[in-house]
Amino acid sequence: MANILIIFSTTDGHTIEICQEIQSILEQHGNAVDLISINEASQVDVMKYEKTVIGASIRYGKHSKSVVEFVQRHKKELEKIPTAFFSVNVVARKPNKDRPDNNPYMKKFLQQVAWEPDELEVFAGKIDYQKYRFIDRQMIRLIMYITKGPTDPKSVNDFTNWEQVRKFGEVINRM
Ligand SMILES: Cc1cc2nc3c(=O)[nH]c(=O)nc-3n(C[C@H](O)[C@H](O)[C@H](O)COP(=O)(O)O)c2cc1C
Repeated sequence: MANILIIFSTTDGHTIEICQEIQSILEQHGNAVDLISINEASQVDVMKYEKTVIGASIRYGKHSKSVVEFVQRHKKELEKIPTAFFSVNVVARKPNKDRPDNNPYMKKFLQQVAWEPDELEVFAGKIDYQKYRFIDRQMIRLIMYITKGPTDPKSVNDFTNWEQVRKFGEVINRM
């Protein structure tokens, strides 16, 4: 049982849903979990926690700048406790881009921050066309067309493997 911090970076809310599933697994094991947005993370005392998890989604090829800055600012504290990081993106729906060692965004992020979390994971995200602004919807449809994904502007496409999410919750509980 531990005090666990989960920090999420999301634009459309899917990453927070993944975090909530992980939180629920961790709480079932008796852990105390605080789920905090990256936008409020500057007020958090990382040293209060025994484990930290960061989950961040990709938008136009990048994790949010705030996530990079948070890791860079707190690297020393994070290195003293067990940590996990996961990335959410739709490239990860492809079989050869679905793991930390072959997902391009994960590889780029780890290089950029020079941080070695104890556990890493990549989750395929969600495309819910009706949620996006016109320009974003058209851009994602184009990307989906090129990568042979769904292009129906009314469709909701959840590519997340929720069993994989629950398994990662168990991994974090054990780390
Ligand atoms: C405007 C926009 C840009 C995106 N850019 C990328 C991208 O470059 N690569 C990718 O793999 N996924 C991309 N995605 C997919 C998101 O990573 C996916 O929808 C994820 O579930 C979003 O999580 P969030 O709701 O927590 O922000 C993009 C989605 C949107 C709406």
